[in-house]
Amino acid sequence: MRLVRTITVIPGDGIGPEVIGPALDVLVALGLDLRFDVIEEVNAHRYLRDGTALSDADFARVRSSAATLLGAVGDPRLRDTGYARGVLWRLRSGLDLYANYRPARLWHERLSPLRDAARRPIDCVVVRENTEGLYSGIGGGTATGTAAEVALDTDLSTHRGVSRIIDFAFSVARRGVCLVDKASAIPHGGRLWQRCWREAVARHPRCATSHLYADTAALRLAEDPTVFDVIVTNNTYGDILSSLTAALAGGIGLAPSASLNPGTGFGVFEPMHGSAPDIAGTGTANPLGAILSAALLVEHLGHGEEAGAVRRAVAAAVAAGRTTPDIGGALGTREAGAAVLAELGAR
Ligand code: NAI
Repeated sequence: MRLVRTITVIPGDGIGPEVIGPALDVLVALGLDLRFDVIEEVNAHRYLRDGTALSDADFARVRSSAATLLGAVGDPRLRDTGYARGVLWRLRSGLDLYANYRPARLWHERLSPLRDAARRPIDCVVVRENTEGLYSGIGGGTATGTAAEVALDTDLSTHRGVSRIIDFAFSVARRGVCLVDKASAIPHGGRLWQRCWREAVARHPRCATSHLYADTAALRLAEDPTVFDVIVTNNTYGDILSSLTAALAGGIGLAPSASLNPGTGFGVFEPMHGSAPDIAGTGTANPLGAILSAALLVEHLGHGEEAGAVRRAVAAAVAAGRTTPDIGGALGTREAGAAVLAELGAR
């Protein structure tokens, strides 16, 4: 019997819908047994109108699907974190998507900002803890709006949360795992991360391991990213270091990501970038981050061969210079997506 799996699609705001279109075209072109449930209503307009970020009905649609493809959410009219948290944090914490997987691979030499050719071919993954840390929303404040204001955000680490993200990092390692923390300055969380690391290293004795403080990790990445395979770290450092690895691999427009629960098998796949209000509506957003996120999605569903074909098509389009302006081409979003489709058709 044919098993048709449902993929929920949340295009979102700004360039989100612009890049999700080409990514969906690629998914359809693969001819897999997938159907798409597009949730158009999740956007800033609805939030501004009635305060709904992700409704219970939206959440139920996501939860009943095999995986979700998300564009981006965010709108310059919204100054607080309520909307983004209402969508992204609700998905991540509600579905316990604790592992954020952010690969960075150089698709073409000319995209690297590094001077030394030997140090350019970055091919690493930032594994970011996705449900704890400083982004957990635990905190408060007093004397808000006065000169005496005090604000507090709690950097939450739990033994369960830290252990499972480190174990996930080992499960995806090819060459080795590097723990990045700031145990030298953050005593309580640092001690817990170090303890969980030692326990995990003992569970994975055959894997090469290293440890760097977050500032040194940024330095080493900019000097020679080729030495890294998997970097495992907390929510904040993972957010920042994965933007650095994306820049080293050609820019944010190319960078895919997946938020996963390896236990349930559920995942939300989304380009790393946001809604880019500065270029929204110009038709110039790079669709490759969304297309490569779609490749991660099909790979996660067991279609590794098709994911490889998409990546080869992306590499060929980039090599031919058939890209958007952010990575040196002259094409619009749709044309850059069509270039990947054409390469896919030629395989
Ligand atoms: P951003 O990623 O939207 O944009 C940063 C810069 O990169 C901008 O100059 C933009 O034009 C450029 N850029 C981003 N994606 C691009 C693409 N595909 N092609 C070409 N250039 C691209 O980050 P920013 O400006 O900090 O945030 C804008 C909004 O997006 C905010 O509301 C923010 O909260 C939201 N956001 C949402 C995320 C999500 O939905 N997961 C992630 C990051 C930000």
